[in-house]
Amino acid sequence: MSTHHRTGGLVDGFGRMATDLRVSLTDRCNLRCTYCMPEEGLDWLAKPELLTGEEISRLVRIAVTMLGVREVRFTGGEPLLRRELVDIVRAAAALEPRPTLSVTTNGIGLARLAPTLREVGLDRVNVSLDTLDPARFKAMTRRDRHADVVAGLAAAVDAGLGPVKVNTVLMRGVNDDEAAALLAWCLERGYELRFIEQMPLDAQHGWQRSEMITAGEILTALRAAFRLDPEFGRGSDPAERWLVDGGPGTVGVIGSVTRPFCEACDRTRLTADGQIRNCLFAREESDLRAALRGGADDAEIADRWRAAMWTKKAGAGIDDPEFLQPDRPMSAIGG
Ligand code: 5AD
Ligand code: SF4
Repeated sequence: MSTHHRTGGLVDGFGRMATDLRVSLTDRCNLRCTYCMPEEGLDWLAKPELLTGEEISRLVRIAVTMLGVREVRFTGGEPLLRRELVDIVRAAAALEPRPTLSVTTNGIGLARLAPTLREVGLDRVNVSLDTLDPARFKAMTRRDRHADVVAGLAAAVDAGLGPVKVNTVLMRGVNDDEAAALLAWCLERGYELRFIEQMPLDAQHGWQRSEMITAGEILTALRAAFRLDPEFGRGSDPAERWLVDGGPGTVGVIGSVTRPFCEACDRTRLTADGQIRNCLFAREESDLRAALRGGADDAEIADRWRAAMWTKKAGAGIDDPEFLQPDRPMSAIGG
């Protein structure tokens, strides 16, 4: 059996190269989306377990300057809850070569933070929004914060963090009647909407294949209201994109379950407690925090990271009957 290379980028045994780093800054969240976590929240990571801002910045530097990472996305839980976010973005923006920097957020607090984040070098944001109806939002997230998210989206555009992407998860009998309305709303405001199939990553292990709204169903619902033409040149984007009514507006559908795109995956993930995951659905992690705190130098950390990616599986196989949900929920891995 071959082993990983000791120089160069984050290649795996199937020849894929990871150039897109997702960094979870915290597992905490100020919402409680029903498809993500229970009402009472989870057993959050304790402060000493979390990487410090400096530790995160060091790992981002190693990824960008030694491992070929070109794009860094900060996620959570909810990344805006982490005070160090601004410093972490500033440090990442100063790296050579300059990576593309984005944040995936639920939008709460974005209205206040967007200008500062833009100033320190953030390029783009993805904002999660599952419904246009404030009462439904409250039912889905268990918090009455719809207006904050809408304000956050507008502030992101004003701050120059566009094109702003909106992520939506549809749930059967809950918000699956809103596909076309959400698209019309986003098109009017210049937001790029992407629907994500619900994945088995909830803390409660309540996901059921039959309850999931599939990419096929989403497209059928959209086609009742819009003309969709395929947009070519997907690259490593997991979203299949469609031109809406001849363009320029588009819509994306991420069929993580029914149309997986693992063969072009270019991601590597760092959890808030310093573990490398080579896939959202990986069952193993590699501990970079222990290496960091044990005094490892940059070259040794880079090498551990390469080794962690080398063993990446060909695919997640969510649709296989054999599929096993990972131990950590989405909120502790990062989207
Ligand atoms: N399946 C699909 N998407 C999910 N998200 C959170 N949990 C799941 C899940 N189980 C979404 C959030 C957010 C993004 C980071 O991932 O709504 O848009
Ligand atoms: Fe928070 Fe995102 Fe989970 Fe909703 S889906 S509870 S916004 S981490």
